[in-house]
Amino acid sequence: QQDQDFAARLLAWFDVNGRHDLPWQHPRTPYRVWLSEIMLQQTQVRVVTPYFERFVAALPDVPSLAAAALDDVLALWSGLGYYARARNLHAAARICVDRHGGDLPRDFDALLALPGIGRSTAGAILSQAWGDRFPILDGNVKRVLCRWHGVEGWPGAPKVEKRLWQLAEAQLPDARLADYTQAQMDFGATLCTRHDPSCLPCPLREGCAALQSGRVPELPTPKPG
Ligand code: ADE
Repeated sequence: QQDQDFAARLLAWFDVNGRHDLPWQHPRTPYRVWLSEIMLQQTQVRVVTPYFERFVAALPDVPSLAAAALDDVLALWSGLGYYARARNLHAAARICVDRHGGDLPRDFDALLALPGIGRSTAGAILSQAWGDRFPILDGNVKRVLCRWHGVEGWPGAPKVEKRLWQLAEAQLPDARLADYTQAQMDFGATLCTRHDPSCLPCPLREGCAALQSGRVPELPTPKPG
């Protein structure tokens, strides 16, 4: 009940305050969702946006990316940094052509097996591209979960991370999974921020363990050392 309430309040907040005009949302194809998630792994939305537009204009789908020369892919990536992302993207596109009929597989383990895709990115792709019921757990989501549940311990520690995955799984809604994934990202990026969280207008005030115990500034626990 508490879990469903979390999702319902977050989705209601997202309807009014979330980002609904990101370029990868229109149209929201698996390829475009994948590309955006890889670009957004280490780079902010406002930086990614023009790169994303240029990239999909030149290489609009998995087969065109697979057929492109690596140098051309790297040229489209030039300026975004972390070039291993572009190399992995290119290699993954070739695997999708060889093994998955030229599109991303709608399968968690098959996605996880592709270079550059970890557990959270696989969940972000499945939920946003197909509405499948998979959790995500990036830095923003970890922070929100640590505060909402009052979880102590550095979220990078394996035991804490395992607990956070369980909590993320448990509070998935039964519908609107694409919106729910985006809502968590937007909420963590704009309201439940690291240094200056906006608890006064927060839709999750009621029931927030960190707020109730005055620990919002201390959570999530910083990396030790
Ligand atoms: N970071 C990773 N994925 C994102 C998304 N879909 N929107 C905003 N930030 C993100």
